[in-house]
Amino acid sequence: MTFEISEWLQNSTPIITIFNIMFFTFTLLFSIFSFLIFISRLKPWCNCNICSSYLTMNWTNEFINLSDWYTHLLKKSPTGTIHIHVLNNTITCNQQNIEHILKTRFENYPKGKPFSAILGDLLGNGIFNVDGVSWNFQRKMASLELKSVTVRSYALEIIIEEIRTRLVPFMNSFAHAEKVFDLQDIMRRFSFDNICKFSFGWDPRCLQVSLPVSDLANAFDVASKISARRALSTSPVIWKIKRLFNIGSEKNLKEAINVVNKFTDEIINKRKEIGFSARNDLLSRFMCSVNDEKYIRDIVISFLLAGRDTVAAGLTCLFWLLSKNQEVEKKIQEEATRVIKNPDQEYPSFEEIREMHYLNAVVYETMRLYPPVQFDSKFAKKDDVLPDGSYVRKGSRVTYHPYAMGRMERVWGSDCGEFKPERWMKDGVFVSESVFKYPVFQGGFRVCLGKELALMEIKCVVVALVRKFEIRVDGNQELRFSPGLTASLKDGLPVRVFEK
Ligand code: HEM
Repeated sequence: MTFEISEWLQNSTPIITIFNIMFFTFTLLFSIFSFLIFISRLKPWCNCNICSSYLTMNWTNEFINLSDWYTHLLKKSPTGTIHIHVLNNTITCNQQNIEHILKTRFENYPKGKPFSAILGDLLGNGIFNVDGVSWNFQRKMASLELKSVTVRSYALEIIIEEIRTRLVPFMNSFAHAEKVFDLQDIMRRFSFDNICKFSFGWDPRCLQVSLPVSDLANAFDVASKISARRALSTSPVIWKIKRLFNIGSEKNLKEAINVVNKFTDEIINKRKEIGFSARNDLLSRFMCSVNDEKYIRDIVISFLLAGRDTVAAGLTCLFWLLSKNQEVEKKIQEEATRVIKNPDQEYPSFEEIREMHYLNAVVYETMRLYPPVQFDSKFAKKDDVLPDGSYVRKGSRVTYHPYAMGRMERVWGSDCGEFKPERWMKDGVFVSESVFKYPVFQGGFRVCLGKELALMEIKCVVVALVRKFEIRVDGNQELRFSPGLTASLKDGLPVRVFEK
């Protein structure tokens, strides 16, 4: 190679040679300059108090959860907005800003390329991970399916069956054994069984007294945890290098994704063999309109991610709160007895669930304080100014923070820290709030598509369990979350269950 270059230099005229050297030098200098500008925009070395505290993890001296520290900072900010320079991230719990990001200037705040890169290996082109035409197509198709009466009744059937044949027998067995168990693990198993049956028409049977290990559930856990950790790093360079060389966490991620993909491909192939036109699961319904197998796989995997840990997180925190607020539990039970008039009827119907206003208030109040998705980010397409005057630079990240929002006096009043379902009730009727004041299911054009399904699932479980059991937290620990896409408790939730 060296020989070829020197021979070429000798044969070229001096002018061409000088021109080439200048061109090469200019390109090199320009690349270095651009790289330095890019790095300086990321501000990886910012020395301000907030960034230093983030980088050195000093905040852990005072707070047990990252979201609690952000809440503290947001409370101190007069506008309800802060900026973490090293993450190039504007974080807000300002209602007007949230409406601006999610609705008014929706087209300026897509998920963006950085987000697609973080979750792209796991989610491919699934609805969670795309913008524009592909998102629009999936959104239309999915919302048609999720609104259909057939799909809704199919979902309720699945949920009641899982409660009747698995969740209640599990609780009975542990009540008799008087043993402590991890409620978060049980709720995850429960919601994974449900979302797999609903999305694939396939039953992973995760919720059993023997607590079987599921390769798919484990692979899914690993993949979503490692993907979430990518989002917390100050620069994507490290995980991209690890991915390039297939080492460390990136190697584990690749292996986990292979398990998820292999498994999904098998299900799709089987479904093609046995036919899908008469089935009600999402996979079969999507297969009627989409031919591309990889695309179908991506769509369905997004649903698994969306519907599994969110519901489990909501249920786990709800039972933690009921254990501490037993008068609320009593009121749920009284309402259920009043609405389900027949004492022999074990599980509520769709209409009865809708009549339970207090129960609805309990679920909303739980997620006001403990939203399953504690924060959610977008990336600015162009420079912008938020309604509170915060300047947002093109390409930077903007995060709205439902967890902090639920703790803001200026949003929810001086009793914002209290668990008070009554705040949602007026004359015995549930009264909702603006989605931008309560962005637990997001709001605007990308509002959660599974909201109604999730609320129904959570409420069915609460009614079924509260009427039969007392679930009591073992110990007095605070809720300590591990970083992730959804709120998950680091050490689970140890509980005991007693028959009523
Ligand atoms: C308590 C449970 C749930 C909560 C709190 C919740 C919350 C959210 C949030 C915050 C988003 C926006 C995420 C983002 O844009 O990055 C979202 C989107 C979504 N959710 Fe949920 N979710 C829940 C349950 C479910 C369930 C059970 C399903 C499916 C059956 C589901 C399906 C979806 C889908 C498909 C999207 C993407 C919508 C879009 O991008 O247009 N969710 N959800």
